[in-house]
Amino acid sequence: MSQPSLYQRVQKIDSQAHTALLPTNNALATALSHALSNSAAKGLPPITVSPLQGQYLAIQAQLISARRVLEIGTLGGYSTIWFASTGASVTSLEINAHHRDVAVENVRHAGYADSVDIILGDALETLPKLAAAAKEKEGAQKFDLVFIDADWALQYEYFEWAMQLVRPGGCIYVDNAVRAVTERGADVQGKETLFAKVGRLEGVQATLVSVLSSHKGHEEGMFDGFLLAIVKG
Ligand SMILES: C[S@@+](CC[C@H](N)C(=O)[O-])C[C@H]1O[C@@H](n2cnc3c(N)ncnc32)[C@H](O)[C@@H]1O
Repeated sequence: MSQPSLYQRVQKIDSQAHTALLPTNNALATALSHALSNSAAKGLPPITVSPLQGQYLAIQAQLISARRVLEIGTLGGYSTIWFASTGASVTSLEINAHHRDVAVENVRHAGYADSVDIILGDALETLPKLAAAAKEKEGAQKFDLVFIDADWALQYEYFEWAMQLVRPGGCIYVDNAVRAVTERGADVQGKETLFAKVGRLEGVQATLVSVLSSHKGHEEGMFDGFLLAIVKG
């Protein structure tokens, strides 16, 4: 009998962790499940974070006692609901009006309409406005955590804005930091990666957290990772 492939073995472990670690019978699980099914019914692509990753984000937010979270890339609000479930208020940026509308429905259905603000528009236009508003308002609070999950080509531009918007001691999470390099061929073309650019910045300590995940359902999507950074005071 042939041995299972590495992909099949990872799929099995991933599925075991999913079953063992994620709640299935509470209000949050019901809300998240509704968000996924409603998003699929409304034609949104299945490109949310995985459930275990969503739970990671919620744990990370709680570890730093985050009260204010900024998310770049809302889609149907799946990761937004994970963040809101921690009690934090969430500002989420989305360029696609249909995605925004579905996210508003999903967030409302989950019971977090009062703590979530979804801003429609190109994040590269919204972020400077958020930064200007924060500067203008005396004592305006910055974000505790910024989650970057929009177009891969602009990860570094979003990161630079996040540096301006996050409080000292807050963190920045960039999703798909590995696939953004491998799938765009930046590694073989010798192009500068997000890691090289972030590594040159002053006032930030960052690392790559590798992720072995089978949730995308195909072998090429199995190897990924996120960049996690803390912004120094
Ligand atoms: C990977 S999905 C986000 C998934 C979501 N964070 C989740 O895990 O549930 C990326 C989203 O970013 C949005 N997006 C792409 N470019 C954008 C931009 N320039 N400004 C704002 N949103 C953008 C896309 O429309 C899409 O809905």
